[in-house]
Amino acid sequence: MGKKKKERERAEREAEEQEIANLELVNGDSNEKKQKKKKRKNKEQNDVESYETPTVSIALPGSIIHNAQSLELATRLAGQIARAATIFQVDEVVVIDNKATSVDESELLMEENSSDDNESGAAFLIRILRYLETPQYLRKRLFPKHNSLRFVGLLPPLDAPHHLRKHEWAPYREGVTLKDQAPDLAGTLVDVGLNKNVLIDKGIEPGTRVTVAMGSNRNLDTGLTYQVVPSSRPRDDARMYWGYKVRYASNISAVLSGCPYKGGYDHLIGTSEHGVAIKSSELSLPSFRHLLIAFGGLAGLEECIEEDNNLKGKDVRELFDLYLNICPNQGSRTIRTEEAVFICLQYFQESISRVRDMHKKI
Ligand SMILES: C[S@@+](CC[C@H](N)C(=O)[O-])C[C@H]1O[C@@H](n2cnc3c(N)ncnc32)[C@H](O)[C@@H]1O
Repeated sequence: MGKKKKERERAEREAEEQEIANLELVNGDSNEKKQKKKKRKNKEQNDVESYETPTVSIALPGSIIHNAQSLELATRLAGQIARAATIFQVDEVVVIDNKATSVDESELLMEENSSDDNESGAAFLIRILRYLETPQYLRKRLFPKHNSLRFVGLLPPLDAPHHLRKHEWAPYREGVTLKDQAPDLAGTLVDVGLNKNVLIDKGIEPGTRVTVAMGSNRNLDTGLTYQVVPSSRPRDDARMYWGYKVRYASNISAVLSGCPYKGGYDHLIGTSEHGVAIKSSELSLPSFRHLLIAFGGLAGLEECIEEDNNLKGKDVRELFDLYLNICPNQGSRTIRTEEAVFICLQYFQESISRVRDMHKKI
């Protein structure tokens, strides 16, 4: 094995260990300390995500929600993005807010004062995408009632591999740590959507979503403690698609600067009718580790760049490694973003698979 690869793997294992350590609670923390810790934990979790397999991220503006004429239609639109991301095994969906300067997600939520109505397009899209990605059995605990979720029951489910039913067994399960703990137990009880809660070997704050390694023994009465693993583990070790993460980016420069992967995105693709047309059979992607495909809103990516103070005077072609027109013979004057996401992800499917297969062989 090459020295570089070994070093990369060591760095990735360290980042994984850090992700788990961030979840742990130190006994005897005060509430305030716990809150601070939770904030720090969220930040740190966003900061470094370790993935061995190549990742695919898409970025798109939350403003596309404003084109929908009712809450129900907006919900359906968000549902389409979630379906596309799942069907094409996207690892990360970045929702762009087209703000001139940078703010982070907590500032956005504070601005909106967490009001039940009038959520911005970005906040709405993030909420629906996260809700749909969460296995059904965890939703009640992780998502308080909210007006924006009123029509979410109408949407087709994502049916992703981590959305497991009670009778199904898989090497990993998503779970949520519980408030009620048996007093004599050292670890934390976790609801993983089975008939019985499982005990993990770490102290983790209640209400935290975790990925649990389930092993192969289906008997839950053995008294075994289970292990929490990084959410990237099912993908890296079992080659299972394990859903997407959703990230807020106040503008397009924040999409890049806030990249959660070590080393950042190493191949950037912009999509537009103004891009170059290349047949999908002739497209060859470099052996990327973290690919980003960006979509624009009503006025395209060019406007997203113009509105971003950090990118003043930049041309789209400078920002992206490839600026592609994926449907050169379009019959409609415009392709809507939600349609473009499906068309583009299908267009890239083969070239992305080739890169993923290459990494499998290494
Ligand atoms: C309503 S269109 C914006 C129209 C704009 N003139 C443009 O730059 O394509 C919304 C988004 O859909 C995607 N899109 C639309 N037509 C496309 C095409 N022919 N090829 C690739 N992406 C396209 C782009 O991401 C675009 O920003």
